[in-house]
Amino acid sequence: MKGIILAGGAGSRLYPLTQVVTKQLQPVYDKPMIYYPLSLLMLGGIKEILLISTTQDIPFFKRLLGDGSQLGIKLEYAVQEHPRGIPEAFLIGEDFIKGDDVALILGDNLLHGDMNFYRKAIKEQTSKENGLNARVFAYSVSDPERYGVVEFDKRSKKVLSIEEKPKAPKSSYAIPGLYLFDSTASERSKKLKPSPRGETEIVELIKSYLADGKLGVSVIDRGIAWLDMGTPRSLLESGEYVGAIEERQGLKIACLEEVALRMGFLNEATFKKTMETIPRSPYKEYLEKILVEIQEKNGL
Ligand code: TTP
Repeated sequence: MKGIILAGGAGSRLYPLTQVVTKQLQPVYDKPMIYYPLSLLMLGGIKEILLISTTQDIPFFKRLLGDGSQLGIKLEYAVQEHPRGIPEAFLIGEDFIKGDDVALILGDNLLHGDMNFYRKAIKEQTSKENGLNARVFAYSVSDPERYGVVEFDKRSKKVLSIEEKPKAPKSSYAIPGLYLFDSTASERSKKLKPSPRGETEIVELIKSYLADGKLGVSVIDRGIAWLDMGTPRSLLESGEYVGAIEERQGLKIACLEEVALRMGFLNEATFKKTMETIPRSPYKEYLEKILVEIQEKNGL
């Protein structure tokens, strides 16, 4: 399974914050926004990741994340000059995907909590044992009319319908900006026509799998927090959420080096090498503490 982070977009709802700094590099408590979706891909065991953004912003992402080797992953970059729609990620990333399955995450989505549902979904997607070639997630919200909405049979988990921002939602389950597709996503995306707002729509791509009887759904239960960070209010609330949990637990959310160590992408020696590149800071002190904890646990 490969991963794509879509981190272009206009960020118009955050203007003037986004006039100079792209949305996905805005601070969310103690880290740039991009850390949150990137950590999620890594937590799914995904090590080959394509980050899509604008020509103007890619140099900043490169400065922050490099080629990923310091995290034990392989990071590539590709340009989407204008936000022509989420499915364009599969056209831009066609060569990168090369026949593999792919997880797409939008650069402004934060998911936090027990990630077993996600690992299970990735396993099901890669095995194809149930004959399903794509998977969306379903998260109960109070305002489904603002999102893509999925209706499904509660028992069999058979998807019945998908609708984009319906006036009368058929369920309270919104689809978060995290999707699993097989490699036909590129071919399917080529056939999509732009909607009246001038973009191709991810819902139309998902519907093409539904029409073929190949779409699965995984319910994300209430133990997981799903936040999007695209408006001034949600950006502030996300920062407060991360701050509250981190202060309470003494553990960081989406600390990439920690995730790399815990996932085994870095071993003790390569982790220490990465540490040499991090300036003296509370962030580094945290990583030093985590290393000691893991060493003690492993009896090293
Ligand atoms: P949106 O929230 O739809 O749009 P936006 O980021 O441009 O912000 P605004 O609505 O305030 O102008 O995008 C969701 C995520 O997907 C966000 O991280 C940007 C990314 N995106 C792209 O990179 N390219 C695209 O073509 C689209 C539609 C979104």
